[in-house]
Amino acid sequence: MPPSPLDLEDVPAGPPSGTLLARLDDLPHHGGKELVFRDGHMVLRLLVQRHGAGAVVYENRCPHAGTPLNMFDDKFIDITGGRLLCRTHGALFDIASGRCVRGPCKGDHLRAVNIDIRDDAIYSA
Ligand code: FES
Repeated sequence: MPPSPLDLEDVPAGPPSGTLLARLDDLPHHGGKELVFRDGHMVLRLLVQRHGAGAVVYENRCPHAGTPLNMFDDKFIDITGGRLLCRTHGALFDIASGRCVRGPCKGDHLRAVNIDIRDDAIYSA
């Protein structure tokens, strides 16, 4: 069972509802982007991944050991382009559902973020 999606304005360091997170046309060719929000010592990391005509947004925190999925850039997809990859221990996640389909946290989920997509842009819901 996936965890309930996050409303960012309820999360420490999260932006208010209606905040522009990314424009679809500004995402790089591989479609991934990390967003980092800070409030004092609180840090919130998100990952945006283009998916079909839209995009998904998850907390950038692997359910296995809690590390960000990326390590050093904005690329989150695996070599096939079909799944999200955690570079720490190699877990693979279905892009649409965030469910781990292979690796040490198989069956666990990334935490989704509630978003609105309108006018080719992604906003926090
Ligand atoms: S922290 Fe992601 S697979 Fe271990």
